[in-house]
Parts: sequence; structure tokens; C-alpha cells
Amino acid sequence: MTVSLSASILSADLSNLREEVARAQEGGVDSIHVDVMDGHFVPNLSFGLPVVRALRRTTDLPIEAHLMIELPERYADRFVEAGADVIYFHVESASRPISLSTSLRSAGVKVGVALNPGTPLSTIEELLDSVDRILVMTVEPGFGGQRFIEGTLRKISKLRRLIENGGLNLEIAVDGGINCSNASKVVEAGAAVLIAGSAIFGREDPAEAARLLRSCAEGRA
Ligand code: DX5
Ligand code: ZN
Repeated sequence: MTVSLSASILSADLSNLREEVARAQEGGVDSIHVDVMDGHFVPNLSFGLPVVRALRRTTDLPIEAHLMIELPERYADRFVEAGADVIYFHVESASRPISLSTSLRSAGVKVGVALNPGTPLSTIEELLDSVDRILVMTVEPGFGGQRFIEGTLRKISKLRRLIENGGLNLEIAVDGGINCSNASKVVEAGAAVLIAGSAIFGREDPAEAARLLRSCAEGRA
């Protein structure tokens, strides 16, 4: 099973971002993940548009913007303009998720809808035809380096069954606490896109860490 790995820069050495991203790229990651936090939807502040623009000049890898913000409808287009290739918004904060997704897709980006650990799958039932990915949060959003919530494995499997039974063309992504000890479990449960911050950038050599994480995810380590 081939997995897609996305490296979350929340845990990177930001004083050396260009080099950090280059190391992750050398380690074979498939995309760079940017956590956008507004201090309202989540109790933390992080990056915004200038960081996405700067990354766009730094790498040719796809850039994912994970919008952990209120009013995603107000800002999503600007992240596309800034150079994002994938936009994740949260079902908990989007007031018109179907029209948001439709307009983003017509702008040429991939769209993922994200759910917090406590948000049931029933909240996205009506969105399954309108998005490309479902992002199952495997920690409470807001901070890097948290512990993976085991109970989310059940949710991933349930979502996989829903996708299979519906004959839908949807990828499952997971974000939060992903490391070598749980990577193969989330893949077995149905995840195809693994987002990892501290397991890649929290290590001495992000390239080596990315290679190791991939072999764990693909059951080779
Ligand atoms: C958490 C963020 C994650 C975070 C993951 O709110 O959405 O992308 O960077 O970090 P780790 O892999 O350290 O849990
Ligand atoms: Zn994220």
C-alpha cells in the first residue's frame, strides 16, 4: 500500500525553513502541510498567507493549507492565490461547506474537509460528493507533539466502509500524533495520507525521519 506523506512545518526550525523543507523533500515526502490557526477556532496562533507565499517560492512540492479558523469562507480563496494546492477546512466552522468546496474545486485545488476527534461522521454525510479528502483529526487541533487518540482508529475504519459502500472516490487523511508506532495501524484502518509534524521535523534529520516513517507506514519497519 503506497501512502502519501505530508510534512507539517509546525514542528520545523522556522529560522531555517528552506533547509528544513529541502531535507523533508529529500526524504521523499509528498507535500508540505501548513497549519493555519486563528486563536479562536483553536487556542493557538500560527501561520498565515505570507508563510504559504514564502514556501511557494521555496519548494515545488504541493502545499497543503489546513485552515483551523473561524470563517474559512472568508480566507480560503486567498490561500489558493498564495499558492496552496490543497485546502482543508473544518466542518465545525464552515457555514456553507458545499459551496465553499465547489468554489475551491473550480479554482483548481483539492479540497479536504476536516473533523475534530469529537465530531461524528454524520456531520459530513452530505459533503461526501463535494470533496476530495476527509481529514480525520487524530488529536485535538491546535498544537503539535500531542499523543495520538487511539479511539480515532474506529472512526477511520468506519469512514473507509462508508466510502467503499458508497463507491466513492475519496481519500482519508489523518493528522496528529502520527509516528512509527501507529502509522501502519492508521493505514490498515484506511488512511492514505499521513500528516506528521514532530515525527519528521522534531528529529535530528528530517530526511531520515521521513524515510523511516514511510517504512513504518508501509509495514516495512
Ligand atoms: C495539529 C496540526 C497538525 C500538527 C501535527 O493541530 O493540525 O498538523 O502539526 O503535529 P504532530 O505530528 O506533531 O502531532
Ligand atoms: Zn494540520
